[in-house]
Amino acid sequence: MSIFSLKPDPVVGIDISSTAVKLLELSRSNKGIKVESYGMEYLPEKAIQDKNIVDIEVVGNVINRLVTRAKPRSQYAAVAVAGPTVITKTITMDAGLSENDIKEQIEMSPAQYLGQSENSEEIEFDYQVIGPNDKDESRVDVLLVASHSETLNAYITALEMANLKVKVVDIEKYALENAFITLAQSMPEIDEGDTVALIEVGATITSLRVLGEQKGEPKVIYTGEDLMFGGNQLTEQIQARYDLSYEETNLAKRNNDLPDDYFKTILEPFKIDVAAQIKLMVEHYYKHSDYGKLSHILMAGGCASIPKLVDHVKDKVDGHVMTINPFSAMSIATRVSNHALMNDAPALMIAYGLAHRTFDKY
Ligand SMILES: Nc1ncnc2c1ncn2[C@@H]1O[C@H](COP(=O)(O)OP(=O)(O)OP(=O)(O)O)[C@@H](O)[C@H]1O
Ligand SMILES: [Mg+2]
Repeated sequence: MSIFSLKPDPVVGIDISSTAVKLLELSRSNKGIKVESYGMEYLPEKAIQDKNIVDIEVVGNVINRLVTRAKPRSQYAAVAVAGPTVITKTITMDAGLSENDIKEQIEMSPAQYLGQSENSEEIEFDYQVIGPNDKDESRVDVLLVASHSETLNAYITALEMANLKVKVVDIEKYALENAFITLAQSMPEIDEGDTVALIEVGATITSLRVLGEQKGEPKVIYTGEDLMFGGNQLTEQIQARYDLSYEETNLAKRNNDLPDDYFKTILEPFKIDVAAQIKLMVEHYYKHSDYGKLSHILMAGGCASIPKLVDHVKDKVDGHVMTINPFSAMSIATRVSNHALMNDAPALMIAYGLAHRTFDKY
């Protein structure tokens, strides 16, 4: 099993996040990029924990339902792993080594390179030569990625339940960064060399990343510490007030299908809270980085779909604040619900990054 897979077959992106499974399939022609299929199904609480599939049966059934509805063309999937059982590390090796030597050396004892005492039979690993080391020309940087076999097997089994074959296993963090870089480069509002923030407010985590230029290349130059804060806090309040299940609440939030008093007494204070958290994260960036002023602040994650959240954020931070939409320049197949896709768009950064792997050239 290769973590950075090398197969040219088209793939459908399957993002198994903590609240939902999101399916996205893209194609490219001379008319540009097109959304071929899309769908999202909410997961029951605790099916995923710490970014790991806990209940394979439940997750597999949800993916199966999703695939039946969305009908992707491809039967090959790109998925992303994350969480404490996934390790990435950059090591340096002698620049004189051939690809084969590198492979052999790592294969002999991957656990040692990863600084793990583990039995290497229980870990799946892969690596990619990044390029010459900055400080020492006689060395090359090699990115090493490892995951427990059990973690990967859970993905493979759950996808098999929906007749999908795992072709690409990405690292969630890289899928998100790649999506961010590709989108920022394609946005007419953003100029080359601009310093741009991506703030993701999901269900459990709020994160901040900053894109800048390094040696003329766009790069994520700052990653803030993840905040354990997100839409789940809002979900809990709704559940307590209106006696709804976790899934019912997520659906109601997405469809704005809640009693009138909700908007003023629960949603409004939550928006103020989100904006305050973002203000702190941005201040932390300015304090600890010398990359300077953020020209644009892009809002992503499911909570970015909350109406007028952007206005609250605008009041708290400088820079041009906007909600990200990976599909603004794409055409959309007629069988895809445009309304659902636009509503969910900010929560689809990872799905977009994974679906984009279909254009990888090897
Ligand atoms: N239209 C909407 N209005 C309000 N809240 C929404 C909307 N769509 C999604 N959400 C909320 O956003 C959250 C899900 O966001 P997202 O899909 O980015 O999270 P995730 O990737 O599942 O979780 P994590 O934070 O662990 O990465 C949920 O709390 C959900 O209820
Ligand atoms: Mg997420």
